[in-house]
Amino acid sequence: MKIITVLGARPQFIKAAPLSAALRKNHDEKIVHTGQHYDYQMSDVFFEELGIPKPEYFLGVGSKQHGAQTGEMLTKVEEVLLKEKPDWVLVYGDTNSTLAGALAAAKLHIPIAHVEAGLRSYNRQMPEEINRVLTDHLSALLFCPTDRAVENLALEGLTEGVVRTGDVMADALYYHARRAEDRQLGENLRYPEKSYLLATVHRAENTDNPERLQGIVEAFARIKGQIILPLHPRTKKLLQDHNISLPENVKLIEPVGYLEMVLLEKGAELILTDSGGVQKEAYLWRVPCVTMRDETEWVETVQIGWNTLTGASAAKIAAAVAGYRQNPLPPYQENLYGNGRASEEIAAALEKQRR
Ligand code: UD1
Ligand code: UDP
Repeated sequence: MKIITVLGARPQFIKAAPLSAALRKNHDEKIVHTGQHYDYQMSDVFFEELGIPKPEYFLGVGSKQHGAQTGEMLTKVEEVLLKEKPDWVLVYGDTNSTLAGALAAAKLHIPIAHVEAGLRSYNRQMPEEINRVLTDHLSALLFCPTDRAVENLALEGLTEGVVRTGDVMADALYYHARRAEDRQLGENLRYPEKSYLLATVHRAENTDNPERLQGIVEAFARIKGQIILPLHPRTKKLLQDHNISLPENVKLIEPVGYLEMVLLEKGAELILTDSGGVQKEAYLWRVPCVTMRDETEWVETVQIGWNTLTGASAAKIAAAVAGYRQNPLPPYQENLYGNGRASEEIAAALEKQRR
């Protein structure tokens, strides 16, 4: 079957690593890269490190306001779809690239497969929530990473075409963990195991709002220990715009490649993040996590006590870190995000759709 995959942002490249490999065993897949992320460390590094097939189309849309960015992607994806006439369009997650790919396909009556369907924060202020709700309602196949995602879809009347597959990001980690462990971090990052914390911050609600960003930085200053912060370019820019400087215990570095990132995660005492992917990876490495958001789509790790939601309050973030340091960790539950075979299951479900 001919499948066009539309992607454009860092976590989507990582998700495509295992899934493109699985799809290409039996399908003719072509990748369309919208250009939403374009710095070497936000895009090319993942294609090179993870052996993701080179995109057939690069749309070069770049950074813009939501409407302009999504609109330009929509126009350009439509041109590709008219030319390629695929049987399916596949999209990942909840970025503007996801919505543009889904909308372009829906208008041309091409069925859509949505990977990472059914996630909800129930916060419509988040651009991602709008993107995922709309994409789910346009999709014919909805690949859910968790039981909760299946339940969320059912609450919206979506039950047809819903398949619980596990999480392709977990597949990526299971697949590449050994390769990462065989590597050595750069000399500037070689800290003893569990002697540092790792942090990432990039969510719009935390970076666009100076009070929230200041709260997070203030929390970093209150926490005892070295914090490594591979900084998303969005946050770098907004720290400057809001004139916020980082405390001395924060080691600021450029965004890193996936293999370096997951090694940093593995060696961390604790992870502080507002990323979706990093929350799950923390759990898979058995590293406790503080999620600096008011809600999360990945509720499973919070429910079993390995992840704490703090919002952007300095006091709550610092208290969550202290809590982990003072108390033993709760029991670990295996396979919360599947058994590493989500990509194979997605490829097989698409195979069943052959006309
Ligand atoms: C996007 C997604 C978010 C996802 C994140 C993953 C949307 C609405 N948001 O957020 O869901 O979690 O990607 O990382 O789709 N920039 C660069 N170089 C780059 C890319 C971005 O400098 O290669 C800077 C630009 O200043 C840009 C800003 O980052 O304006 C934001 O980029 P954008 O892609 O709009 O949103 P993200 O915050 O990356
Ligand atoms: N990641 C990375 N380098 C970094 C920061 C994150 O490779 O400097 C990886 C991380 O391991 C995870 C993914 O990027 O696999 C998460 O992407 P991000 O946090 O940008 O987006 P989200 O998951 O929140 O949508």
